Amino acid sequence: MANLIDSITSSRVWKSFFRHGWPDDELNRSLVMTTNIFFHLHPVKVSRRSIRATYTWGLGVLAAILFVVLAVTGTLIMFYYVPSTELAYHNIIDLQTKVPYGQLMRNMHRWAAHGMVLIVVLHMARVFYTGAYKPPREFNWIVGVVLLLLTLGASFTGYLLPWDQLSYWAITVGTNIAGYTPLIGPKIRLMLLGGFEVGQNALTRFYALHIMVIPLLMTLLISLHLWRVRKDGGLAAQNIPERPDSRLEFQ
Ligand code: HEM
Repeated sequence: MANLIDSITSSRVWKSFFRHGWPDDELNRSLVMTTNIFFHLHPVKVSRRSIRATYTWGLGVLAAILFVVLAVTGTLIMFYYVPSTELAYHNIIDLQTKVPYGQLMRNMHRWAAHGMVLIVVLHMARVFYTGAYKPPREFNWIVGVVLLLLTLGASFTGYLLPWDQLSYWAITVGTNIAGYTPLIGPKIRLMLLGGFEVGQNALTRFYALHIMVIPLLMTLLISLHLWRVRKDGGLAAQNIPERPDSRLEFQ
């Protein structure tokens, strides 16, 4: 039996999958982390403090999970939705009343979108109150700010897509407000709407932004964000002394 196990684990096929031995020493433990795409996202070592649930409250991970839920449900909705002023409204009604699980899909997409705005804001507050934005994490804070803006942008552009009264007037008001930006306001409004009022051009632009431009940028930036967490030495909690009265010391 031992011979059989030995010949399997020393075969080329086995070694092409598992490029390190059993993780029972320092070297193999770090090889497990660095050669596995999923574990690779984590630092090889983490401090006990930084994995305390009450340090991050799981908010960053929750935001990432909501992003995945939005991508999956959004892709499913795209099978039934045409971004046309004639069809969009009826597509959404049909999605809710005729497509199996369509209502569930739409509700999941909508609630995950609301949830993501809330969770990202809470995550930002957590990062701020634990001082985790300070060097060397200031670059990741900036990446985070862009992610927050993109999250809000995704919400705003998605709002128009059902093409009902609520979305029509919300985007009319929203783009009018953008139009009051000093100097560049009218240009921004024209660029967003592709005209002087909310119509087919606006719907086409908002759709392109919502399903392609913003999600693509967010995917790239979330990857950069997580990579930076690792490169900056894991979560900032490792700098926090473990004493109960340590709050003042890390600020
Ligand atoms: C799509 C939105 C976002 C996602 C998916 C995301 C994801 C994450 C994750 C998974 C972590 C590590 C675990 C955690 O802290 O919970 C993290 C850490 C961090 N995030 Fe975000 N984040 C987002 C938005 C933001 C925003 C808006 C900011 C600030 C403006 C920000 C700043 C940071 C910083 C500075 C860290 C390092 C924290 C530390 O070392 O303790 N992130 N993020």
